[in-house]
Amino acid sequence: MSRFKRVRCSLLVLACLGTMGTAFAQTQAAARQAALANIGRTATPAEVKAWDIDVRPDFKGLPKGQGSVRQGEVLWEAQCASCHGSFAESSEVFTPIAGGTTAQDVKSGRVDGLMPGANQPNRTTLMKVSTLSTLWDYINRAMPWTAPKTLTPDEVYAATAYILFLGNVLPEDFTLSDANIREVQDRLPNRKGMTTAHAMWPGKELGGTARPDVQGSNCMVNCKAEVVVKSFLPDYARNAHGNLAEQSRGVGESRGVDTTRPASAAAAQSGSAVAQAERAPAGIPVAAVVKTAASGAASVMPLLQKNTCVACHGMDNKLVGPSFKDIANKYKDRADAVNYLSGKIKAGGQGVWGAIPMPPQALSAAELAQISQWLAQGAAK
Ligand code: HEC
Ligand code: HEC
Repeated sequence: MSRFKRVRCSLLVLACLGTMGTAFAQTQAAARQAALANIGRTATPAEVKAWDIDVRPDFKGLPKGQGSVRQGEVLWEAQCASCHGSFAESSEVFTPIAGGTTAQDVKSGRVDGLMPGANQPNRTTLMKVSTLSTLWDYINRAMPWTAPKTLTPDEVYAATAYILFLGNVLPEDFTLSDANIREVQDRLPNRKGMTTAHAMWPGKELGGTARPDVQGSNCMVNCKAEVVVKSFLPDYARNAHGNLAEQSRGVGESRGVDTTRPASAAAAQSGSAVAQAERAPAGIPVAAVVKTAASGAASVMPLLQKNTCVACHGMDNKLVGPSFKDIANKYKDRADAVNYLSGKIKAGGQGVWGAIPMPPQALSAAELAQISQWLAQGAAK
C-alpha cells in the first residue's frame, strides 16, 4: 500500500469519528479504528499543505507573488515553447493555448469565435477558459508537462501573464500579481461564457438545485448485449503522435499498439491480445467475434441490407464500390483476409478500388465477423 493511501485511510477514520452521532456508531468506529490501528498515520501539516494547492475562482488559495510579461517570455521560451510553440499557437501536443480572441471579446466577455457559425478552426485555451484561477492553477500544478510543480509562484504569474499577452488580453509592460489578478479576470475574453444552469457545478451538496443534464443509472435487467461503436480513429490519424508502442510505460500490462501500421495489419502481424482486442469493438470478447461462423449469402444478406452495404455494393456488379464477388476474388489468397476485411469495413477506406471513399461502417462485432468471413470464403451466393 502506498504511503499516500495509508494516510488517506487514517483521514477517513477521523472523518467518520467526527460525524457519527450514536453511541453504537461510535463503538463501531472505535472497533474499526482499533482494527486499523497499525495502518497509516495522521497526515502531517506539511503533507496537507503540499496537497492543498488549489486556487479557486474567487482566488482563494492563490499564493502571493508577481511576474511580468517579459519575465514570462523568457520562461516560456526556455520551458514551454518546445511543446506549445513560441506564440502558444502550436497544435503539436495539444490544442493551441492562445489565439482566436479579439479586443471585442475582451470588452464583452464572450468569445465570438465560439458562437454558432463562427469560422474558427480550433478552440484555444484562451477562447474557452472563463476563470483566470484555472489557468494559474493548471500551470502551477501540471506544467511543464515533464516537470510539474517545479515553477515558483512568481514564475507561474509570469507564464500566465505572457499567455495573456499573447492573447492580446494584457499589454507588453504588464506585471501580473495577486494584487491585480481580479482586475485581469475582468478582462478574460470568455469570462461570461460559463453557465452553471445545467448543475454540474455547484452540486446538490453545495446548495445547487437544478438537475444535472445527464442522468444515468446502472442497467440491471434487459440490458443491451452488444455495444455498437460508432466512430473509430481513421488509419491516417493513428500515428499522429508517434508510435504508441514505443511510448507506453515499460511496466504494467497495457502496452500501446503499433501505430505505424493500419489497425488490421498491426493486429495480423503481432497477433497480440492487445491488437486483437483493439480490433474488436469495445465490450465484445475477441473469442465471440472469431467463433461466429459464416455460411452462404442467405445468412449475410439480411446483414448487408440492414447495414445498407447493398446501397454501394452489388453481388456481381460494381455500384459506388466494388462488387462483393470482386472483393472476394481480390483477397482469396490472403491468409489474414478476415482480419483485413473486418478492419477495412470498420474503418472505411479509400484508394484500393478508386478515388471514392467508403465511410467507416458501424456494425456489431458479430455482424462484422460474419460478413468478413463470408467475403474471405469467396462471397458465395
Ligand atoms: C513536454 C511538453 C510540454 C511542455 C514543455 C509544456 N507543456 Fe503545457 N501542455 C502539454 C500537454 C501535453 C498538455 C495537455 C495535457 C492534458 O490535457 O492532459 C498541456 C497543457 C497546457 C495547458 C492547458 C491547456 C488547456 O486548455 O487545458 C497550459 C495552460 C499549459 N500547458 C501551459 C504550459 C506552460 C506555461 C509551460 C511552461 C512552463 C508548459 N505548458 C510546458 C505539454 C507541455
Ligand atoms: C457509401 C457507400 C458504401 C457503403 C454504404 C459501403 N461501402 Fe464498402 N466500399 C465502398 C467503396 C467506395 C469502396 C472502395 C474503397 C477503396 O477504393 O478503397 C468500398 C470497399 C469495400 C471493401 C473492400 C476494402 C478493400 O480494402 O479492398 C469491403 C470489404 C467493403 N467495402 C464492405 C462493405 C460492407 C460490408 C458494407 C456494409 C457494412 C459496406 N462496404 C458499405 C462504398 C461503400
